Amino acid sequence: SEPAPPHQQANSLWTSRMAFILAAVGSAVGLGNIWKFPYITGENGGGAFVLVYLACIFLIGLPVLIAETLIGRRGGQSPVATMRTLTRTEGASKGWRIIGWNGVFAASLVLSFYAVIGGWALVYVGKAAFGLFVGADAETVGAQFDTLLSNPWELLLWHTAFMVIVVFIVARGIRAGLEKAVKMLMPLLFVLLIVMVLYAMTSGSFGRAVDFMFSPDFSRLTTEGVLVALGHAAFTLSVGIGTLMAYGSYLPKHINIARTSVSIAVMDTCVALLAGLAIFPLVFANGLEADAGPGLIFVTLPLAFGQMSGGLIFGTLFFALLLVAAITSAISMLEPVVEWLEERKGTTRVKSAMTGGFAVWLVGIGTVLSFNLWSNIYPLGFIGFFEGKTVFELIDFLASNILMPLGGLAIVLFVGWAVRREGLAEDIGLQGGLFRAFMVVLKFVTPAGIAVVFLYNLI
Ligand code: PHE
Ligand code: NA
Repeated sequence: SEPAPPHQQANSLWTSRMAFILAAVGSAVGLGNIWKFPYITGENGGGAFVLVYLACIFLIGLPVLIAETLIGRRGGQSPVATMRTLTRTEGASKGWRIIGWNGVFAASLVLSFYAVIGGWALVYVGKAAFGLFVGADAETVGAQFDTLLSNPWELLLWHTAFMVIVVFIVARGIRAGLEKAVKMLMPLLFVLLIVMVLYAMTSGSFGRAVDFMFSPDFSRLTTEGVLVALGHAAFTLSVGIGTLMAYGSYLPKHINIARTSVSIAVMDTCVALLAGLAIFPLVFANGLEADAGPGLIFVTLPLAFGQMSGGLIFGTLFFALLLVAAITSAISMLEPVVEWLEERKGTTRVKSAMTGGFAVWLVGIGTVLSFNLWSNIYPLGFIGFFEGKTVFELIDFLASNILMPLGGLAIVLFVGWAVRREGLAEDIGLQGGLFRAFMVVLKFVTPAGIAVVFLYNLI
């Protein structure tokens, strides 16, 4: 038989199931949960959107997560090389290799704007620590945020700082520090979120927030809203763009992929829902707009930190943990890009990380400018789909709502239809009826779900 692929050799595997879960959760839990989920929920009218999002997580995101991790482990290399090898060993068409390329491209796009928002988190650690929120009212906090956005140089500075941190960590090789950081800091983030939810309960608007998030009013949900929910299900679980394939390549054979994936999806969903429950009560209690957009958490949470006792410490800690969560996610986005550069160009890891990081940083300048100098520029506005979208909104939409779900579609189709069936049940970690049911989901339900959402949006 063939020798084990590179990442599947004993010395490079994750040390335990826990190590892989930590890395995958580090990738999954990030700005997507705490920054993006609340603001897109606000923009899309609440309950109905959340319901569709939850359905997308479990019917689409989770199957993709399982399939992508499985591909990664079978291939045992970078996403691009894995797809090259697997199309050969599974006797499948070379066309499937597009999954690897799509991953590298989409991951670069996502990281380009992710780093800019990561930069905001970085500034807010400082603002909290220097007491800038103490006793502040909604107006002051809003003005602080607007001032930040209006200054392209300052945004560029923090965007750069964030990218430098990420490149530095990726260049050194990711696995040693990552495990420790996630193991200690993620539970702390979770606890802090619960503290914030408890605080939000005292705001007087908790009931209204629960109502907003969980009573579905389908008249407020648009077809584009459904596409956003689908895209976010992929985004928040980090699936469809090669990240989980890269991490899965180090996963030891005996680990049950199905069970592990369910834990990851559940944890990620809990963090997002907690973030919503922490933020929306503050929105309503302070008379703010739920559809305020990308600034939502930056104009609501500081209010809470400014008023609660111990807010200076809580606020600083919270934004620091958000920053760590953003970094562990950003690392996982750069990873497929760097592995690809290493293989393709035969350059060192350090050089690949710097080249990849620089390219992504350049693209990120478009997002920096979208909040000030280019705020009225809509590059592909003449195409219906992209009407009224700034560079940032365009890149986010293209990567999160189009490339990630389409990548996910290709991944489930590949595992459902093209991969050899023998050994698959053991590889996925499901038996008997459960395995057969899962294959039906993989072959029909998930692809149909993605296809329907896309067709509706095209018509
Ligand atoms: N899942 C991450 C988050 O929710 C974002 C991410 C997307 C990470 C794609 C890796 C790949 O913040
Ligand atoms: Na997430």
